[in-house]
Amino acid sequence: MQKKSVVISGVGLWTPPYTVSNEELVDSYNAWAEQYNTKNAEQIHNGEMEAKPFSSAEFIAKASGIKNRYAYVKEGILDINRMRPKLSVRKDEELSHQAEMAMHAAKKALSEANKVSTDIDMVIVACAYTQRSYPAIAIEVQAALDIQGQAFDMLVACSAATFALQRAYDSVASGSCRAVLVINPELTSPQVNYTDRDSHFIFGDVATAVVIESSETCVSAHSYDILGTQCVTSYSNNIRSNFGYTSRVTDENPYEADKLFHQNGRKVFKEVCPMAASHIEAHLSTLGISINQLRRWWLHQANINMNLLISKRLLGRDATLDEAPIVLDRFANTASAGSIIAFSEHHKDLEEGDLGVICSFGAGYSIGSIVLQKRDVNA
Ligand code: COA
Repeated sequence: MQKKSVVISGVGLWTPPYTVSNEELVDSYNAWAEQYNTKNAEQIHNGEMEAKPFSSAEFIAKASGIKNRYAYVKEGILDINRMRPKLSVRKDEELSHQAEMAMHAAKKALSEANKVSTDIDMVIVACAYTQRSYPAIAIEVQAALDIQGQAFDMLVACSAATFALQRAYDSVASGSCRAVLVINPELTSPQVNYTDRDSHFIFGDVATAVVIESSETCVSAHSYDILGTQCVTSYSNNIRSNFGYTSRVTDENPYEADKLFHQNGRKVFKEVCPMAASHIEAHLSTLGISINQLRRWWLHQANINMNLLISKRLLGRDATLDEAPIVLDRFANTASAGSIIAFSEHHKDLEEGDLGVICSFGAGYSIGSIVLQKRDVNA
């Protein structure tokens, strides 16, 4: 059976209503640390406890490039007696928080692709965390959008979007689906330890969505042929989030630091950058494309220095912001959505035939790349 040619025909970005700047975050963390140190002054003095160090907005901007992040719910994050967002509990009959985020982005992607619910055969909700095990958030979204066919959730941390795009590509290429909606409702703030100076600044909330379909049905004004997809994993303990459904029965404290996002940032930086660079190089070479032919790099958005290092390793020089756009200064690390935000904001200026790569890298480790070529609008 001949494989169908597959395109990305629509992308949607939804930004939550609240922002949290580095300064706000640092003011709140430092006030919390001061309170902690005062409360535990005696034990700290006796060497029984360690004093909490202070954070700095300048350090965060310099070490990561992050200046701001969005929050789905801001209430509670900056409250030094809470240090976590205060999400409302929704009844089973109500739309869940994550499904709501997903819907916003999905509607935008469908509208960009000029598609309606009846055109879609599969919904994949792909992200770093889902708020429950079942029913899948994807099935809830599928029902809310009145889409037939199948839906499922996929968790691949920061590479969830690219891994899901590969599943979507395979489904359309094989003919088992006409079109697939991949959605990334990244509600990361509940897993951030806002009392940890090393990681309190890293994440932000957002939702993105992408429509994938056969080129035969595509009527979008901006569409991209998918030339190839490549995903790989390699086990590492350097980025972990341990809270899970067994935590209740192992009697573990869900507030403990190791239950929340934690990482060995230096090691991640050192190990993941060369892996991502080699991955992109190997993927392009299987397609007969040289690095210099790439017009745009939509890279994962975790740390500006990582992106600079990866592109420099491949290009032999710094990539310009036009070549490798940065969105993490405004959005922070939004897990799997980062490279899709970059794609969403920076694709319409490409010309017919221009080549680009979406590339994610993160926990697992997991790395995924999708090589794209801008199509002729009249094709
Ligand atoms: N404010 C002020 N100082 C801080 C600080 C903060 N918020 N956090 C750490 N520091 C201090 C450290 O204590 C250390 O001090 P020391 O040199 O006296 O020991 C110094 O700054 C450097 O800390 P380090 O953790 O080595 O910083 P870094 O340069 O590695 O940057 C990250 C930290 C997290 C920004 C960086 O490691 C990173 O982004 N890694 C990539 C991993 C990633 O993005 N993962 C996300 C999942 S995909």
